[in-house]
Amino acid sequence: MIEPVSLAKAHMECRYLKETVPVLIDLLAFEKVGEFPGEVTLKHPNTDWLIVVHEAGADAPVKQMHNHFGVRVATTGEVEAAYEYLSAHKEEYGLRQISKPLYNHGSYSLYFLEPGTNGWEIECYETFLRKETGEGMMGAVRASHWDSLLSPERFPGKGYVPQAFTHGTLACGDLKPSRDFCTQVLGLEIHRANENVFYVKHPREKCYVVYAIRKNWTTFSPRFRFTINLESKEAVTRAHRWLVESGKELGVTELGDLDETDGTVSLFFLSDPNRNWWEISSLS
Ligand SMILES: [Fe+2]
Repeated sequence: MIEPVSLAKAHMECRYLKETVPVLIDLLAFEKVGEFPGEVTLKHPNTDWLIVVHEAGADAPVKQMHNHFGVRVATTGEVEAAYEYLSAHKEEYGLRQISKPLYNHGSYSLYFLEPGTNGWEIECYETFLRKETGEGMMGAVRASHWDSLLSPERFPGKGYVPQAFTHGTLACGDLKPSRDFCTQVLGLEIHRANENVFYVKHPREKCYVVYAIRKNWTTFSPRFRFTINLESKEAVTRAHRWLVESGKELGVTELGDLDETDGTVSLFFLSDPNRNWWEISSLS
């Protein structure tokens, strides 16, 4: 089994960076921390993991809303304020499918589609946390994802403050193979939400990936993936060698070559039993 040190990055494919990056910065409180041709890295100030946005051009396929990413606000009133703000500015930012806030599996959430084809959720667990402290916390998935609240001055004039980047979502046809894969290959911990959904995360972190059964789910290019960091380049080499030998039996449906061209980082891509992509990388 791989021994990850963190769930380090989410990767999102968009059509054009100039359309998508302003949505993440202006409406979801991300900050730009890196930039290369065709790629921008963003970080939320209260969250360790990064999101790398890759530009794929006009042909990037639309992601169904069940392949979405999510940020969290502290109060239910802020979800409603976000609905008002996004609705009032949807033309300016090219937003579509803005859903009215609803309670769903413990969270009070709205969803929208940004112009680069990706769904986003603005969620809130305030009501849930008033009642629940035990197993329903799902290994801190539903606990507050911040040590201290960002002040409204950090995100002024909107009536809501995204307090953390909490999750990404992978749709699949069958949970069991991916559940076994996440624990036995990726070395992550899982929490069963219900018969159709489980959460996967690193034991020491709160950010998580949702695996959800969906009818007619679609797989995407490796530009839509999550990165797990290992402690060293040697650990990545060992993990790759192990999966070359045993990956097929373990449910790896595609295994990329070991990439050491950077000189400082080793990495490789692999797809899980439901053909969702992961990247295994050394710390850089
Ligand atoms: Fe979600």
